[in-house]
Amino acid sequence: MKIVCFFNEDWEEGYVKERLAGHEITFLKGSTSDHADFREESAEILSVFVNSPVGKTELEHFPNLKHIATRSTGYDHIDRAIARDRAITISSVPAYGENTVAEFAFGLLLTVSRKLYECIKKVQDEGLFSQVGLRGFDLKGKTIGILGTGRIGAHMIRMAKGFGMNVIAFDVYPNEALARELGFSYVSQDELFATSDVISFHLPYNKDTHHLLNTTNIHKLKKGSVVINTARGGLIETEALAMGLREGILAGVGLDVLEEEAFVEDETRLLFSPHPSEASLKTTLANHYLIEHPRAIIAPHNAFNTDEAIRRILDTTVENIKAFALGEPKNIVPPPTA
Ligand code: NAI
Repeated sequence: MKIVCFFNEDWEEGYVKERLAGHEITFLKGSTSDHADFREESAEILSVFVNSPVGKTELEHFPNLKHIATRSTGYDHIDRAIARDRAITISSVPAYGENTVAEFAFGLLLTVSRKLYECIKKVQDEGLFSQVGLRGFDLKGKTIGILGTGRIGAHMIRMAKGFGMNVIAFDVYPNEALARELGFSYVSQDELFATSDVISFHLPYNKDTHHLLNTTNIHKLKKGSVVINTARGGLIETEALAMGLREGILAGVGLDVLEEEAFVEDETRLLFSPHPSEASLKTTLANHYLIEHPRAIIAPHNAFNTDEAIRRILDTTVENIKAFALGEPKNIVPPPTA
């Protein structure tokens, strides 16, 4: 089949080519935004990573598209409604090692709780071997609230238990067997917000989860709590984090994802985009506040990024493409209902 693959690293091209021999593949290094004018009338399959938005404009460039194989668990970078209306199926990588993202989330938490970044800076940049300003806090005995007890959330719970933390969780589909096995309890979202010392997000981003934590409910959080987000930026209203840090509600935040993260490196794209919304501009400003804030640890959407996980992601994507080509698609993302 005719495939267009937007890839990130040189070795990926050979890896995929070898495993999809017999298919005609066009490889483009970078994201769909980096190749905004690229069109391919006859492309049937598109393979993208989360840095590639696939919306109305991008889809118009591939009029014969039948399938999108995203090399990610999340699929909020793809306009599923347009794909559904054009009978384009989408496959994703539902699991490539829940430990990979959970380990990073815990790393962010430890970086905040023990000021690891400041410790390293003190020695490396300032040449000082002093503990001044570096006092942190214990995790043992603290309460961590896990939003979303799916694959990654469950692994996060296992690790939190290993650290001697009390675990509470919220999920629209509570898994009571898991709660018994791992020894945690489900509470309401409000109770989780009000009683957690640490809140960690492990939910998909969609219209129901948009701004789950926002400028209205940030005041309900326990004073001095920590927010960790490795799921998607849009789950949290960026302004709420800025407000929380400024008003002392939040002791710190550890984020691997930001709202409008596509514009962080290249804000001129937002400035010159035909209709930059007021909300996008406001979020970009709030992102600046966070990036420069001493109590905010921000990573560049890197939680998935281990040698082992990248290979598992590519292997599953290759299997997804092969399965689609054989007429037996698998790992299909459900189309939106509304
Ligand atoms: P999963 O599908 O195994 O678990 C998600 C859980 O969220 C499920 O238990 C589901 O019932 C629950 N949920 C869904 N909607 C909810 C709502 N409105 N309220 C409460 N609970 C709700 O997903 P998994 O594998 O644990 O991944 C979680 C998220 O992590 C992904 O959606 C993705 O956005 C993000 N992710 C981030 C990566 C990174 O590099 N930063 C890499 C991989 C995933």
